[in-house]
Amino acid sequence: MYNIRKVTDDITWIGVSDRRLALFENIFPIKRGVSYNSYVLLDEQTVLFDTVDASVAGQFFENLEAALEGRSLDYLIVNHMEPDHCAMIGDIVRRYPAVKIVGNTKTFGMMNQFFGTDFSERSVVVKEGDTLSAGKHTLHFVMAPMVHWPEAMVTYDDVDKVLFSADGFGSFGALNGNVFADEVDFDRDWLDDARRYYTNIVGKYGASVQTLLKKAAGLEIAVICPLHGPIWRENLSYILEKYQKWSTYEAEDQAVVIMYASMYGNTASAADALAGALAVRGVKKIAVYDVSNAHVSELISEIFRASHLVFAAPTYNAGIYPVMENLLSDMKALAVQKKTVAVMENGTWAPTAAKQVKEKISEMKDMTILDTGLTIKSAMHADQKAELDALADAIVNSMV
Ligand code: FEO
Repeated sequence: MYNIRKVTDDITWIGVSDRRLALFENIFPIKRGVSYNSYVLLDEQTVLFDTVDASVAGQFFENLEAALEGRSLDYLIVNHMEPDHCAMIGDIVRRYPAVKIVGNTKTFGMMNQFFGTDFSERSVVVKEGDTLSAGKHTLHFVMAPMVHWPEAMVTYDDVDKVLFSADGFGSFGALNGNVFADEVDFDRDWLDDARRYYTNIVGKYGASVQTLLKKAAGLEIAVICPLHGPIWRENLSYILEKYQKWSTYEAEDQAVVIMYASMYGNTASAADALAGALAVRGVKKIAVYDVSNAHVSELISEIFRASHLVFAAPTYNAGIYPVMENLLSDMKALAVQKKTVAVMENGTWAPTAAKQVKEKISEMKDMTILDTGLTIKSAMHADQKAELDALADAIVNSMV
């Protein structure tokens, strides 16, 4: 059965949710599933905005056929060439042989790489500022290079004031009937997944997102149609403000996120003691994670959210405990910036983790590393309570 939803009188959401996939991109756990959004415009010409992942092909074509109301397809606009959105291009061409495919030069280069053809017999190559008339609606093409792939672009409909934003403003999470952000409790149920999606997939490219946001500021936008997650048609400033923060690496919360690695529980015990000492000092927003038991994508999301970070790690093979080292590498890869950091270490005979963690943090931009830290030899005992208090004081003092 088809499952489609009107976005405006002329534009229909025809996306499909996948609740079977365990790992998005074979990396990211998606316990709440994911949606692959696609949209149809019915005007004098019919236009499809992006396709979907191959795994949901059957439902997608049922939806597309219903949305087209018996008409054929004139145009497919390819805003993004990542396979979770472009996988169905070949099938579209086979089903609608007269379809023209719209993209930029890089789009068609990637098409050749993925499919062995650039569909040159039907390609319409567009660049920044080009338009396509569908009849009543004129579609404007805005390049969005490196958000988060080089060929990425967005399309703006100047009649319904709709921005088809590709991965921008997307989120993990299947859509459960309510496809609009104003139909769900976004802050409660979606924000964490939207942040996790942005920070892990687009996070490295904050400068490119800033460029796109500045271009978008020049458009009158009433609706944002992303390729994943809910559609925005109310309170757009909410998500735009989040994107402003995330893309400039500003913290959302004055909060302390403590991330520990612990082989036998002793580093965990010290980390919990620090959390308690912070709470006694009035810090309300504290989160504690075991890096061995929290997915790195959740930690990255929390790192973007919070102003203050604490890393507590055992020394392992004279280096940093591997899961912590992996987290630090991911932070650097995703261009984490502008954090205040404290470091705790453990080592039974030669603790060296703190020095090495600090070196890795120092490689990131605009990071403040607190002078006060804590070294544990095997396990922390009451004789180190004063050192723990000093660390808690240093963190609290840096929060004002
Ligand atoms: Fe949802 Fe960059 O693909």
